[in-house]
Amino acid sequence: MIRKIVTVFFIGLIIPIVISSCRRDEQIQPATNNTGDTTQVFKPTPYSIEYPKGYLWPRLLANTTNPLTNEGVELGKKLFYDAILSASNTISCATCHKQEYAFTDNRRFSLGPNGEVGTRNSMPLFNLYGSELLPNSNTHRFMWDGSQPGLETQVLAPIMNPIEMNQSLAELERELRAHPIYPTLFKKAFGIDSITIKYVAMAISQFERILISGQSKFDLYKQGLAQLNESETRGMLVFGSEEKGDCFHCHGDIHFNPFFTNYRMHNNGLDSVIKDSGLFIMTGNPADIGKFKTPSLRNLSFTAPYMHDGRFNTLEQVVEFYNSGVYRKGYTDEFMRKHPEGLKLTEQDKADLIAFLKTLDDYNFINNPKLNVR
Ligand code: HEC
Ligand code: HEC
Repeated sequence: MIRKIVTVFFIGLIIPIVISSCRRDEQIQPATNNTGDTTQVFKPTPYSIEYPKGYLWPRLLANTTNPLTNEGVELGKKLFYDAILSASNTISCATCHKQEYAFTDNRRFSLGPNGEVGTRNSMPLFNLYGSELLPNSNTHRFMWDGSQPGLETQVLAPIMNPIEMNQSLAELERELRAHPIYPTLFKKAFGIDSITIKYVAMAISQFERILISGQSKFDLYKQGLAQLNESETRGMLVFGSEEKGDCFHCHGDIHFNPFFTNYRMHNNGLDSVIKDSGLFIMTGNPADIGKFKTPSLRNLSFTAPYMHDGRFNTLEQVVEFYNSGVYRKGYTDEFMRKHPEGLKLTEQDKADLIAFLKTLDDYNFINNPKLNVR
Protein backbone atom coordinates (compact mmCIF):
# COMPACT_ATOMS: atom_id res chain seq x y z
CA MET A 1 0.00 0.00 0.00
CA ILE A 2 2.63 2.50 1.12
CA ARG A 3 4.89 1.30 -1.67
CA LYS A 4 2.07 2.28 -4.04
CA ILE A 5 1.71 5.69 -2.49
CA VAL A 6 5.42 6.22 -2.82
CA THR A 7 5.35 5.12 -6.44
CA VAL A 8 2.50 7.46 -7.25
CA PHE A 9 4.36 10.16 -5.40
CA PHE A 10 7.47 9.70 -7.45
CA ILE A 11 5.53 9.45 -10.68
CA GLY A 12 4.25 12.84 -9.55
CA LEU A 13 7.79 14.02 -10.02
CA ILE A 14 8.07 12.49 -13.48
CA ILE A 15 4.83 13.71 -15.03
CA PRO A 16 5.79 17.39 -14.91
CA ILE A 17 8.96 16.47 -16.79
CA VAL A 18 6.93 14.99 -19.60
CA ILE A 19 4.47 17.83 -19.60
CA SER A 20 7.05 20.55 -19.56
CA SER A 21 9.14 19.00 -22.24
CA CYS A 22 6.08 19.08 -24.51
CA ARG A 23 5.22 22.65 -23.68
CA ARG A 24 6.95 25.29 -25.73
CA ASP A 25 8.23 27.84 -23.32
CA GLU A 26 8.56 31.41 -24.32
CA GLN A 27 12.02 31.70 -25.80
CA ILE A 28 14.47 34.30 -24.67
CA GLN A 29 16.65 34.60 -27.72
CA PRO A 30 20.29 35.28 -27.02
CA ALA A 31 21.32 38.60 -28.49
CA THR A 32 22.53 38.12 -32.03
CA ASN A 33 25.75 39.31 -33.51
CA ASN A 34 25.07 42.85 -34.62
CA THR A 35 28.00 43.34 -36.96
CA GLY A 36 25.90 42.64 -40.02
CA ASP A 37 28.35 39.89 -40.91
CA THR A 38 26.08 36.90 -41.46
CA THR A 39 28.96 34.43 -41.56
CA GLN A 40 29.57 35.15 -37.84
CA VAL A 41 26.37 33.53 -36.52
CA PHE A 42 26.39 33.06 -32.74
CA LYS A 43 26.43 29.32 -32.28
CA PRO A 44 27.46 27.84 -28.93
CA THR A 45 27.88 24.06 -28.59
CA PRO A 46 25.02 22.23 -26.81
CA TYR A 47 26.25 20.59 -23.60
CA SER A 48 25.64 16.86 -23.44
CA ILE A 49 25.02 15.45 -20.00
CA GLU A 50 26.18 12.00 -19.01
CA TYR A 51 23.47 10.75 -16.69
CA PRO A 52 24.45 8.13 -14.10
CA LYS A 53 23.46 4.56 -14.84
CA GLY A 54 21.61 2.03 -12.72
CA TYR A 55 18.33 3.90 -12.30
CA LEU A 56 15.98 5.51 -14.70
CA TRP A 57 17.66 8.83 -13.88
CA PRO A 58 15.21 11.69 -14.30
CA ARG A 59 16.33 14.07 -17.04
CA LEU A 60 16.73 17.81 -16.73
CA LEU A 61 13.74 19.84 -17.81
CA ALA A 62 14.18 20.89 -21.41
CA ASN A 63 15.11 24.44 -20.47
CA THR A 64 14.45 26.55 -23.52
CA THR A 65 15.09 29.84 -21.76
CA ASN A 66 18.55 28.84 -20.58
CA PRO A 67 19.72 25.82 -22.58
CA LEU A 68 22.99 24.26 -21.41
CA THR A 69 25.96 24.93 -23.66
CA ASN A 70 29.65 24.09 -23.23
CA GLU A 71 30.47 27.79 -23.27
CA GLY A 72 27.75 28.65 -20.72
CA VAL A 73 28.72 25.85 -18.31
CA GLU A 74 32.43 26.76 -18.48
CA LEU A 75 31.67 30.42 -17.89
CA GLY A 76 29.38 29.52 -14.99
CA LYS A 77 32.13 27.43 -13.43
CA LYS A 78 34.63 30.27 -13.72
CA LEU A 79 32.19 32.71 -12.10
CA PHE A 80 31.32 30.22 -9.34
CA TYR A 81 34.97 30.10 -8.30
CA ASP A 82 35.68 33.81 -8.78
CA ALA A 83 35.78 36.20 -5.80
CA ILE A 84 35.07 39.07 -8.22
CA LEU A 85 31.43 38.35 -7.33
CA SER A 86 31.89 39.80 -3.81
CA ALA A 87 32.40 43.46 -2.87
CA SER A 88 35.60 42.65 -0.98
CA ASN A 89 36.83 40.40 -3.81
CA THR A 90 37.61 37.76 -1.17
CA ILE A 91 34.51 35.51 -1.25
CA SER A 92 33.37 33.29 -4.08
CA CYS A 93 30.44 30.85 -4.18
CA ALA A 94 33.04 28.12 -3.58
CA THR A 95 34.06 29.71 -0.25
CA CYS A 96 30.88 28.30 1.27
CA HIS A 97 30.27 25.56 -1.32
CA LYS A 98 33.50 23.54 -1.53
CA GLN A 99 33.77 20.53 -3.83
CA GLU A 100 35.56 18.42 -1.20
CA TYR A 101 32.45 18.73 0.99
CA ALA A 102 30.04 17.99 -1.89
CA PHE A 103 29.79 21.77 -2.40
CA THR A 104 28.82 22.72 1.14
CA ASP A 105 30.94 24.09 4.01
CA ASN A 106 32.34 22.16 6.98
CA ARG A 107 31.61 25.06 9.33
CA ARG A 108 28.34 25.22 11.20
CA PHE A 109 27.86 28.74 9.86
CA SER A 110 29.96 30.02 6.97
CA LEU A 111 32.01 33.18 7.36
CA GLY A 112 31.16 36.39 5.53
CA PRO A 113 33.73 38.94 4.28
CA ASN A 114 34.42 40.30 7.78
CA GLY A 115 33.94 37.05 9.64
CA GLU A 116 30.16 37.51 10.01
CA VAL A 117 28.12 34.38 10.56
CA GLY A 118 24.53 33.65 9.55
CA THR A 119 22.07 31.38 11.30
CA ARG A 120 21.85 28.61 8.74
CA ASN A 121 24.22 25.87 7.63
CA SER A 122 25.36 26.05 4.00
CA MET A 123 23.69 23.52 1.69
CA PRO A 124 25.41 20.95 -0.52
CA LEU A 125 24.99 21.54 -4.25
CA PHE A 126 24.31 18.43 -6.33
CA ASN A 127 21.31 17.03 -8.20
CA LEU A 128 19.77 20.48 -7.74
CA TYR A 129 17.74 20.09 -10.90
CA GLY A 130 15.63 17.52 -9.03
CA SER A 131 13.97 20.46 -7.23
CA GLU A 132 12.99 21.82 -10.64
CA LEU A 133 10.99 18.67 -11.37
CA LEU A 134 8.43 19.49 -8.68
CA PRO A 135 5.04 20.56 -10.09
CA ASN A 136 4.93 24.17 -11.27
CA SER A 137 2.49 25.04 -8.48
CA ASN A 138 5.24 24.28 -5.95
CA THR A 139 7.54 27.28 -5.98
CA HIS A 140 9.33 26.57 -2.68
CA ARG A 141 12.26 24.89 -4.32
CA PHE A 142 15.57 26.25 -3.04
CA MET A 143 17.08 27.24 0.32
CA TRP A 144 16.25 25.66 3.67
CA ASP A 145 13.03 27.67 3.91
CA GLY A 146 12.08 27.30 0.23
CA SER A 147 12.45 31.04 -0.30
CA GLN A 148 13.82 30.75 -3.85
CA PRO A 149 11.68 29.48 -6.74
CA GLY A 150 14.51 28.94 -9.23
CA LEU A 151 18.26 28.68 -9.64
CA GLU A 152 18.54 31.81 -11.79
CA THR A 153 16.88 33.96 -9.11
CA GLN A 154 18.71 32.19 -6.26
CA VAL A 155 22.12 33.33 -7.54
CA LEU A 156 21.36 36.97 -6.76
CA ALA A 157 20.61 36.28 -3.08
CA PRO A 158 24.16 35.48 -1.87
CA ILE A 159 25.68 38.14 -4.16
CA MET A 160 23.59 40.89 -2.57
CA ASN A 161 23.41 39.48 0.99
CA PRO A 162 25.32 41.90 3.28
CA ILE A 163 26.80 39.06 5.35
CA GLU A 164 27.71 36.96 2.31
CA MET A 165 29.07 38.74 -0.79
CA ASN A 166 27.61 42.19 -0.05
CA GLN A 167 27.92 43.23 -3.71
CA SER A 168 25.93 45.83 -5.63
CA LEU A 169 24.71 44.34 -8.90
CA ALA A 170 25.52 47.51 -10.86
CA GLU A 171 29.08 47.48 -9.48
CA LEU A 172 29.48 43.80 -10.40
CA GLU A 173 28.31 44.53 -13.96
CA ARG A 174 30.86 47.38 -14.19
CA GLU A 175 33.70 45.14 -12.93
CA LEU A 176 32.86 42.31 -15.31
CA ARG A 177 32.55 44.66 -18.32
CA ALA A 178 35.98 46.14 -17.53
CA HIS A 179 37.56 42.70 -17.07
CA PRO A 180 40.18 41.54 -19.63
CA ILE A 181 38.54 38.13 -20.28
CA TYR A 182 34.88 38.05 -19.20
CA PRO A 183 33.42 40.15 -22.06
CA THR A 184 34.73 37.60 -24.61
CA LEU A 185 33.47 34.64 -22.57
CA PHE A 186 29.96 36.13 -22.23
CA LYS A 187 29.95 36.89 -25.94
CA LYS A 188 30.81 33.27 -26.74
CA ALA A 189 28.26 31.85 -24.30
CA PHE A 190 25.33 34.18 -24.93
CA GLY A 191 26.16 36.31 -27.96
CA ILE A 192 25.87 39.51 -25.89
CA ASP A 193 27.98 42.65 -26.28
CA SER A 194 27.40 44.07 -22.81
CA ILE A 195 27.41 41.93 -19.67
CA THR A 196 24.31 42.08 -17.48
CA ILE A 197 23.45 40.30 -14.23
CA LYS A 198 20.81 38.22 -15.96
CA TYR A 199 23.52 36.42 -17.93
CA VAL A 200 25.72 36.03 -14.82
CA ALA A 201 22.81 34.20 -13.20
CA MET A 202 22.16 32.12 -16.33
CA ALA A 203 25.79 30.99 -16.58
CA ILE A 204 26.12 30.03 -12.89
CA SER A 205 22.79 28.16 -13.06
CA GLN A 206 24.05 26.17 -16.04
CA PHE A 207 27.09 25.07 -14.03
CA GLU A 208 24.87 24.20 -11.05
CA ARG A 209 22.63 22.01 -13.22
CA ILE A 210 25.53 19.80 -14.29
CA LEU A 211 26.53 19.06 -10.67
CA ILE A 212 25.15 15.54 -10.83
CA SER A 213 26.11 12.95 -8.20
CA GLY A 214 25.27 9.33 -8.96
CA GLN A 215 28.43 7.24 -8.80
CA SER A 216 28.40 5.93 -5.25
CA LYS A 217 28.89 2.33 -4.15
CA PHE A 218 25.11 2.05 -3.95
CA ASP A 219 24.81 3.15 -7.60
CA LEU A 220 27.31 0.45 -8.60
CA TYR A 221 25.25 -2.04 -6.59
CA LYS A 222 22.14 -0.99 -8.52
CA GLN A 223 23.99 -1.79 -11.74
CA GLY A 224 25.11 -5.17 -10.43
CA LEU A 225 28.72 -3.97 -10.33
CA ALA A 226 29.22 -4.00 -6.54
CA GLN A 227 27.92 -5.96 -3.57
CA LEU A 228 26.62 -4.49 -0.34
CA ASN A 229 28.02 -6.25 2.73
CA GLU A 230 25.69 -7.76 5.35
CA SER A 231 25.55 -4.68 7.53
CA GLU A 232 24.86 -2.35 4.56
CA THR A 233 22.13 -4.69 3.30
CA ARG A 234 20.44 -4.76 6.71
CA GLY A 235 20.79 -0.95 6.89
CA MET A 236 18.99 -0.62 3.56
CA LEU A 237 16.07 -2.51 5.10
CA VAL A 238 16.10 -0.31 8.22
CA PHE A 239 15.96 2.73 5.90
CA GLY A 240 13.09 1.36 3.84
CA SER A 241 10.86 -0.39 6.35
CA GLU A 242 7.86 1.20 8.07
CA GLU A 243 8.55 -0.73 11.28
CA LYS A 244 12.19 0.32 11.58
CA GLY A 245 13.78 3.57 10.32
CA ASP A 246 10.88 4.61 8.08
CA CYS A 247 13.13 7.18 6.38
CA PHE A 248 11.93 6.68 2.83
CA HIS A 249 8.74 8.74 2.98
CA CYS A 250 10.78 11.92 2.79
CA HIS A 251 14.21 10.74 1.70
CA GLY A 252 12.98 8.68 -1.24
CA ASP A 253 12.15 5.08 -2.03
CA ILE A 254 15.36 3.24 -2.97
CA HIS A 255 13.60 1.52 -5.88
CA PHE A 256 12.39 4.62 -7.68
CA ASN A 257 14.03 7.75 -6.38
CA PRO A 258 17.76 8.11 -7.05
CA PHE A 259 17.93 11.51 -5.34
CA PHE A 260 17.36 10.31 -1.73
CA THR A 261 15.04 13.24 -1.10
CA ASN A 262 11.56 14.16 -2.26
CA TYR A 263 12.79 17.80 -2.38
CA ARG A 264 9.75 18.83 -0.34
CA MET A 265 9.37 20.84 2.84
CA HIS A 266 8.77 18.91 6.07
CA ASN A 267 8.97 19.47 9.81
CA ASN A 268 10.98 16.49 11.07
CA GLY A 269 10.43 17.32 14.74
CA LEU A 270 13.77 18.83 15.69
CA ASP A 271 12.38 21.20 18.31
CA SER A 272 9.51 21.66 20.72
CA VAL A 273 10.22 25.40 20.81
CA ILE A 274 10.90 26.62 17.30
CA LYS A 275 13.53 29.33 16.83
CA ASP A 276 13.68 29.35 13.03
CA SER A 277 10.20 28.89 11.63
CA GLY A 278 11.37 27.87 8.14
CA LEU A 279 8.75 27.79 5.37
CA PHE A 280 6.32 29.70 7.61
CA ILE A 281 8.47 32.81 7.03
CA MET A 282 7.51 32.55 3.36
CA THR A 283 3.86 31.52 3.57
CA GLY A 284 2.56 32.79 6.93
CA ASN A 285 0.63 29.52 7.18
CA PRO A 286 0.89 27.99 10.69
CA ALA A 287 0.96 24.50 9.17
CA ASP A 288 4.35 25.45 7.69
CA ILE A 289 6.02 26.28 11.01
CA GLY A 290 9.36 24.49 11.29
CA LYS A 291 9.25 23.03 7.77
CA PHE A 292 12.58 22.88 5.97
CA LYS A 293 13.71 21.49 2.64
CA THR A 294 14.41 17.76 2.90
CA PRO A 295 18.12 17.32 2.11
CA SER A 296 19.48 14.46 0.05
CA LEU A 297 21.15 11.64 1.96
CA ARG A 298 23.84 11.27 -0.67
CA ASN A 299 27.39 12.31 0.27
CA LEU A 300 26.70 12.58 4.01
CA SER A 301 30.32 11.67 4.88
CA PHE A 302 31.37 14.97 3.33
CA THR A 303 28.54 17.31 4.38
CA ALA A 304 28.68 17.51 8.21
CA PRO A 305 27.48 19.31 10.26
CA TYR A 306 23.85 18.39 9.66
CA MET A 307 20.40 20.06 9.64
CA HIS A 308 19.44 23.66 8.74
CA ASP A 309 21.36 24.98 11.75
CA GLY A 310 24.20 22.46 11.65
CA ARG A 311 23.34 21.23 15.15
CA PHE A 312 24.58 17.66 14.71
CA ASN A 313 28.23 16.87 14.00
CA THR A 314 27.92 13.13 13.42
CA LEU A 315 25.59 10.66 11.76
CA GLU A 316 25.39 8.83 15.09
CA GLN A 317 23.79 11.95 16.58
CA VAL A 318 21.38 12.26 13.64
CA VAL A 319 20.29 8.63 13.86
CA GLU A 320 19.85 8.86 17.65
CA PHE A 321 17.73 11.97 17.11
CA TYR A 322 15.41 10.06 14.76
CA ASN A 323 15.43 7.07 17.10
CA SER A 324 14.61 8.76 20.38
CA GLY A 325 14.81 12.57 20.14
CA VAL A 326 12.00 13.58 17.78
CA TYR A 327 9.43 16.03 19.11
CA ARG A 328 6.24 14.37 17.98
CA LYS A 329 3.58 17.00 18.72
CA GLY A 330 2.65 20.43 17.43
CA TYR A 331 3.48 20.99 13.78
CA THR A 332 5.67 17.91 13.40
CA ASP A 333 5.09 15.86 10.24
CA GLU A 334 2.63 12.98 10.46
CA PHE A 335 5.31 10.53 9.35
CA MET A 336 7.26 11.35 12.51
CA ARG A 337 4.19 11.26 14.76
CA LYS A 338 3.44 7.76 13.51
CA HIS A 339 5.96 6.37 16.00
CA PRO A 340 4.77 7.78 19.35
CA GLU A 341 7.28 5.69 21.31
CA GLY A 342 10.26 6.47 19.08
CA LEU A 343 11.73 4.08 16.51
CA LYS A 344 13.18 1.65 19.07
CA LEU A 345 16.12 0.76 16.88
CA THR A 346 18.69 -1.65 18.33
CA GLU A 347 22.40 -0.71 18.44
CA GLN A 348 22.85 -3.07 15.49
CA ASP A 349 20.03 -1.36 13.51
CA LYS A 350 21.63 2.05 14.07
CA ALA A 351 25.09 0.88 13.02
CA ASP A 352 23.59 -0.85 9.96
CA LEU A 353 21.61 2.23 8.94
CA ILE A 354 24.77 4.35 9.07
CA ALA A 355 26.71 1.73 7.09
CA PHE A 356 23.99 1.89 4.43
CA LEU A 357 24.00 5.70 4.34
CA LYS A 358 27.76 5.65 3.72
CA THR A 359 27.23 3.56 0.57
CA LEU A 360 25.72 6.79 -0.85
CA ASP A 361 29.05 8.65 -0.68
CA ASP A 362 30.21 9.57 -4.17
CA TYR A 363 33.99 9.98 -4.21
CA ASN A 364 34.01 10.48 -7.97
CA PHE A 365 31.85 13.53 -7.54
CA ILE A 366 34.01 15.26 -4.94
CA ASN A 367 37.19 14.45 -6.87
CA ASN A 368 35.95 15.17 -10.40
CA PRO A 369 38.48 17.69 -11.82
CA LYS A 370 35.90 18.90 -14.39
CA LEU A 371 33.93 20.50 -11.57
CA ASN A 372 36.88 22.55 -10.41
CA VAL A 373 39.09 25.30 -11.84
CA ARG A 374 42.36 23.90 -10.46
C1 HEC B 1 28.90 33.17 2.92
C2 HEC B 1 28.53 31.83 2.50
C3 HEC B 1 27.85 31.61 1.17
C4 HEC B 1 28.20 32.11 -0.07
C5 HEC B 1 29.32 33.06 -0.42
C6 HEC B 1 27.29 31.50 -1.02
N1 HEC B 1 26.41 30.67 -0.38
FE1 HEC B 1 24.98 29.51 -1.23
N2 HEC B 1 24.24 29.03 0.58
C7 HEC B 1 24.79 29.42 1.78
C8 HEC B 1 23.88 29.12 2.87
C9 HEC B 1 24.12 29.41 4.35
C10 HEC B 1 22.73 28.55 2.29
C11 HEC B 1 21.43 28.16 2.99
C12 HEC B 1 20.76 29.51 3.27
C13 HEC B 1 19.34 29.46 3.74
O1 HEC B 1 18.62 28.49 3.48
O2 HEC B 1 18.89 30.46 4.33
C14 HEC B 1 23.01 28.49 0.83
C15 HEC B 1 22.13 27.94 -0.12
C16 HEC B 1 22.40 27.86 -1.46
C17 HEC B 1 21.58 27.19 -2.46
C18 HEC B 1 20.29 26.41 -2.21
C19 HEC B 1 20.50 24.91 -2.38
C20 HEC B 1 19.25 24.11 -2.24
O3 HEC B 1 19.34 22.87 -2.29
O4 HEC B 1 18.15 24.66 -2.10
C21 HEC B 1 22.17 27.39 -3.68
C22 HEC B 1 21.68 26.89 -5.03
C23 HEC B 1 23.36 28.20 -3.44
N3 HEC B 1 23.48 28.46 -2.09
C24 HEC B 1 24.20 28.65 -4.46
C25 HEC B 1 25.17 29.64 -4.25
C26 HEC B 1 25.82 30.37 -5.34
C27 HEC B 1 25.58 30.14 -6.82
C28 HEC B 1 26.69 31.25 -4.76
C29 HEC B 1 27.56 32.30 -5.44
C30 HEC B 1 26.85 33.26 -6.26
C31 HEC B 1 26.55 31.06 -3.31
N4 HEC B 1 25.62 30.10 -3.05
C32 HEC B 1 27.30 31.77 -2.37
C33 HEC B 1 26.03 30.03 1.96
C34 HEC B 1 26.71 30.71 0.96
C1 HEC C 1 8.96 13.63 7.68
C2 HEC C 1 10.04 13.59 6.70
C3 HEC C 1 11.35 12.95 7.11
C4 HEC C 1 11.58 11.66 7.54
C5 HEC C 1 10.57 10.55 7.73
C6 HEC C 1 13.01 11.57 7.76
N1 HEC C 1 13.62 12.76 7.46
FE1 HEC C 1 15.60 13.16 7.56
N2 HEC C 1 15.23 15.11 7.15
C7 HEC C 1 13.98 15.65 6.87
C8 HEC C 1 14.08 17.10 6.84
C9 HEC C 1 12.94 18.06 6.56
C10 HEC C 1 15.42 17.41 7.15
C11 HEC C 1 16.01 18.82 7.32
C12 HEC C 1 15.50 19.33 8.65
C13 HEC C 1 16.12 20.61 9.13
O1 HEC C 1 17.29 20.86 8.89
O2 HEC C 1 15.40 21.38 9.80
C14 HEC C 1 16.11 16.13 7.32
C15 HEC C 1 17.47 16.02 7.58
C16 HEC C 1 18.15 14.81 7.64
C17 HEC C 1 19.59 14.68 7.71
C18 HEC C 1 20.59 15.83 7.67
C19 HEC C 1 21.14 16.00 6.27
C20 HEC C 1 21.89 17.29 6.07
O3 HEC C 1 22.49 17.44 4.99
O4 HEC C 1 21.87 18.17 6.95
C21 HEC C 1 19.88 13.34 7.75
C22 HEC C 1 21.25 12.69 7.79
C23 HEC C 1 18.59 12.64 7.74
N3 HEC C 1 17.58 13.57 7.67
C24 HEC C 1 18.44 11.27 7.81
C25 HEC C 1 17.22 10.63 7.99
C26 HEC C 1 17.08 9.24 8.36
C27 HEC C 1 18.24 8.28 8.55
C28 HEC C 1 15.74 9.00 8.51
C29 HEC C 1 15.09 7.74 8.98
C30 HEC C 1 15.52 7.27 10.29
C31 HEC C 1 15.05 10.25 8.21
N4 HEC C 1 15.97 11.22 7.91
C32 HEC C 1 13.67 10.42 8.21
C33 HEC C 1 12.83 14.94 6.65
C34 HEC C 1 12.63 13.62 7.06
